Amino acid sequence: MIKRIWSREILDSRGVPTVECYCQLDDGRFATASVPAGTSTGSHEALELRDKDNPRYHGEGVLKACENINTILGPALVGMDPTKQIEIDQKLISLDGTENKSKYGGNAILAISMVVCKVGAISQNKALYAWINDLAVQKGIAKGIKTPTPLLNMINGGLHGAGNLDFQEFWMIPATNKKFSEGLQMGVEIYHTIGDNLTRRGAIHSVGHEGGYAPNLFTNADAFEVFVESVRQTNYALGRDVFLGLDVAANSFYKDGDYTIRDRSSSLSDDQLLDYYKELISSYKLAILEDPFQEDAWDSWKKVYKELAGTAIIVGDDILVTNPKRLQKAIEEKACNGAVIKPNQIGTISETLDVVKMAKDANWKLVTSHRSGETNDTFIADFSVGIASDYAKFGAPARGERVAKYNRLTAIEIELDYFSGIRK
Ligand code: PGA
Ligand code: ZN
Repeated sequence: MIKRIWSREILDSRGVPTVECYCQLDDGRFATASVPAGTSTGSHEALELRDKDNPRYHGEGVLKACENINTILGPALVGMDPTKQIEIDQKLISLDGTENKSKYGGNAILAISMVVCKVGAISQNKALYAWINDLAVQKGIAKGIKTPTPLLNMINGGLHGAGNLDFQEFWMIPATNKKFSEGLQMGVEIYHTIGDNLTRRGAIHSVGHEGGYAPNLFTNADAFEVFVESVRQTNYALGRDVFLGLDVAANSFYKDGDYTIRDRSSSLSDDQLLDYYKELISSYKLAILEDPFQEDAWDSWKKVYKELAGTAIIVGDDILVTNPKRLQKAIEEKACNGAVIKPNQIGTISETLDVVKMAKDANWKLVTSHRSGETNDTFIADFSVGIASDYAKFGAPARGERVAKYNRLTAIEIELDYFSGIRK
């Protein structure tokens, strides 16, 4: 039984406040959970409540969200059974009563939903990923867990970078037949090789929000050139062991009907940008393309799906925002064939599972994702295993808050190998 729920303000990896929530059961056992936050957020996401009019932390404080937990939402759940996740989430949703969780804050609500999920697992002596899979089954998703293929974010641009590259995330994707730990090791070797090559060119500037290099390069295609050169210097073959991928995050360079990128001297129309993606996909073996167009450009999404979905997975993030209504529209209109899954875009674990179920029923690929503002909470790693996500993107294989999640996945892999007898 839930005895106490309490929260406080902590800092995320960008030095921006976020919500940490603590939940204690009547037998004394407890857990904590903290919520991530995006930098390049979609405008249709659940509302992240910040103390805007309060000058502390430039208005980014979350004292109000914490107070909502401590005085309203937490007390409302005292006495409830923590394994009744769906009931508890429903209660939080109806207490808030708004479409986008703007009354109490998506950050306050998700912090509780996550911590309840953790104590729910603890109360049954289950691994968190196994309990998440039980919840997935309650939502009608097939039983079964697996470790995902990592999308390792090697080079950061857009709103995550240093103001040089336009595209947000340049990924290395290990072939899906590699074990998670093997793919991670390949990624680390390539990451360090990219670092050496950028240093040699005098192009290293810094690292971005997600730990990838944020270099000074002439064009976005140059980032791929360095990438390809680096893969060649390792023992891995591009197109066999390793593929590349891109989160364009096109919202960030879209303005008044055009897209402006440094690869072209004048702004691009949707059709011109699509042609450029075709070039990039064939030159650099891109296997996955995320957010190629801005979040409401449905016609262009339909076009990119029609022309490219056979070659690359077209993944929606800002267009879908882990929202069942937007996902339904995207399925009906054939706008993508992959979904980014970010619990904080919608605000509860149960609703996230609803979206997972819809995407799986449509035979889409799932990309479970961290946010650019992260904490050391590894919940999302267990979540990716519990829903048997195809891919997980937790940033570069560097920086503490990113590797915490990758290290959690290698721990889960060892545990699963042990249970299945592969490891003694
Ligand atoms: P965000 O970026 O966390 O800043 O939104 C991640 C992404 O766009 O996938
Ligand atoms: Zn994205």
